[in-house]
Amino acid sequence: PEDIPVLTIDGPTASGKGTLADEVAHELGYVILDSGMLYRATGLAAHRAGLDLDDGAAVAAIVPAMDLHFRKGRVTLGEEDITDALRAEAAGLMASQVAAHPQVRSALNQLQLDFRRVPGLVADGRDMGSTVFPDAPLKVFLTASAATRAERRYKQLISKGISASMEGLRADLEARDARDKGRSASPLKPAQDAQSLDNSAQTIEESRDLVLAWWAERRPF
Ligand code: CDP
Ligand code: CDP
Repeated sequence: PEDIPVLTIDGPTASGKGTLADEVAHELGYVILDSGMLYRATGLAAHRAGLDLDDGAAVAAIVPAMDLHFRKGRVTLGEEDITDALRAEAAGLMASQVAAHPQVRSALNQLQLDFRRVPGLVADGRDMGSTVFPDAPLKVFLTASAATRAERRYKQLISKGISASMEGLRADLEARDARDKGRSASPLKPAQDAQSLDNSAQTIEESRDLVLAWWAERRPF
């Protein structure tokens, strides 16, 4: 699997990682790993099992038995389609709570490595380049200002018919960023060899084309 190329995209919430990962993977015909969905599913499963989300050992213990599947953009846990529940901000907060435990991170490590399949992988999250795929030839650290990110999330929710307040969203995203940056286990920070990209003033197509040009220079074949 070490021969299979990986391109990583890490960064804070609503910076556009998922959208960029989808675009780039589509162009290259690569597999996608949305690692945040694994943390969200773990948080939701632990919550439903009545566990204390601050108990890292207890949460990590349910990971091997999670019957989690990713198919055509949908996520199922057992028989249930949990995709919409996972996208809710409540699941994002549960994810960031369980993600702070090193035991949970190591329990999810192999599941993430298993996504490395031919012809290649685009992995998005917080520590894809810094911890999970340290050998990736291109590591993008995607950022945008907090105001831009809050506005993007706001538009995303409104377009789905979900009401939201811009001030509330900005406060939530800044609180989650602070927790993700402040933890000791794989904190949110660029890998040493990451390529930073502030896309506040870029369209999705501009970011995609820039990353594809970087990939054409760096890919290992
Ligand atoms: O995955 P992450 O939370 O980083 O962000 P996302 O869900 O990919 O993007 C959040 C929203 O920002 C989506 O609705 C994107 O379409 C939008 N976006 C944008 O308007 N302009 C960009 N250059 C990048 C993303
Ligand atoms: O889409 P958004 O950027 O809001 O969040 P996400 O990527 O789905 O991640 C949800 C939470 O999971 C993050 O706030 C992190 O605490 C955690 N996470 C992580 O610790 N490591 C990853 N590789 C991905 C997500």
